[in-house]
Amino acid sequence: MRRVLILGATGSIGQQALDVVQRNDELTVVGLSAGTKWEQLVELARQHGVSRIALADEYAAAKASESWTGGDVLSGPDGLIRLIAETECDIVLNALVGSAGLGPTIAALGEGIDLALANKESLVVGGDLVTQLAEGTGAQLLPVDSEHSALFQLVAGERPGTVDKLVLTASGGPFRGRSKSDLAAVTVEQALDHPTWKMGGKITIDSATLMNKGLEVIEAHHLFGFDYDAIDVIVHPQSIIHSLIQLNDGSTLAHLGYPDMRVPISYALNHPSREDVPLRPLDLAELGSLTFEQPDRDAFPCLRIAEAAGRAGGSAPCVMNAANEVAVEAFLRGEIPFNGIPALIERTLETVAAPPIGHFFQLAELDEEARVKARELLAEIPV
Ligand SMILES: NC(=O)c1ccc[n+]([C@@H]2O[C@H](COP(=O)([O-])OP(=O)(O)OC[C@H]3O[C@@H](n4cnc5c(N)ncnc54)[C@H](OP(=O)(O)O)[C@@H]3O)[C@@H](O)[C@H]2O)c1
Repeated sequence: MRRVLILGATGSIGQQALDVVQRNDELTVVGLSAGTKWEQLVELARQHGVSRIALADEYAAAKASESWTGGDVLSGPDGLIRLIAETECDIVLNALVGSAGLGPTIAALGEGIDLALANKESLVVGGDLVTQLAEGTGAQLLPVDSEHSALFQLVAGERPGTVDKLVLTASGGPFRGRSKSDLAAVTVEQALDHPTWKMGGKITIDSATLMNKGLEVIEAHHLFGFDYDAIDVIVHPQSIIHSLIQLNDGSTLAHLGYPDMRVPISYALNHPSREDVPLRPLDLAELGSLTFEQPDRDAFPCLRIAEAAGRAGGSAPCVMNAANEVAVEAFLRGEIPFNGIPALIERTLETVAAPPIGHFFQLAELDEEARVKARELLAEIPV
């Protein structure tokens, strides 16, 4: 029986992970966390027989403690870290959103616990340090992002030196094919209407700007140790091919399937075995055709900005990620237009120095500094 701790249990990935665990006799949940949704978290703890939960929000944790007598409620960001360190578990699923996921990633890997990582921001912000930590403690880093899960499976079958290129597919999001001027007036509602994936709000906006693909390029660089020149992005609107690898003999291997996050979640939680997921087999004749196009980095500059921050390396991706989180929140509140998102990120990167970083606490300080600056710069973004 593999004991699973699910961080971000009330979110889109967290809910699908609970579905995967419930269908599998070899997996059991031993701890759950959320940010603020304490009523939902307590209900999930009851349903899954869990006796340890954590809420990052202290008020929410206090409310949960008052109303639930079924177990321990840990509170605040430290409560999440204690949940990881003090609950006996075999694997942690980090499904938090944003750079708030970095602390739990460090805690799990630092304890030598295998980590199923949906929280791509952990690797964007602290990639070099996170991968060094995993190597140091021997904990496994198992990607949950569908593209990286696909690459993980494809690369595993090849000898070192034979994979020339990683190719990440992108759906293109709801605004694929639009020009920069078309994008000037798109609404929050339109941006949240993703054509192929149903996800949390932040990643859905990141998918609309193509920042999500930029974050994934940086994530792939850290997970697989490939140079940025050897990581390509191709737009594939049907989201059937999850990624490809190009090999030294001219072959290309691809990973295909209907878009359903339970597949990569199940793969990460059960690794190295592969367990049943209730999905119908792929019907290529019914699909008829799969199409591909180059991403438009002029209309969607976030992809270009993220690739450049990745190449710059060091702490540039940390600054970029913080600015993106501030920009997405501001867009969702209606404070800046869609094209204001890349504009704010570029202004923040021009303003905040990205020094070499040697320790995780320096990343947390830089993340905070970049957020403060990005919030000030919001006033400069034309509405
Ligand atoms: N959704 C997908 O299909 C998908 C696919 C690939 C990768 N990912 C990645 O997976 C991660 C999660 O995405 P999601 O779509 O599942 O997000 P989501 O639906 O917004 O869920 C986020 C979860 O994190 C919790 N949370 C939010 N802020 C927190 C904080 N400061 N401290 C502690 N907990 C916090 C939320 O709790 P409350 O509910 O209480 O707010 C919720 O449980 C992201 O990094 C995303 O890029 C998602």
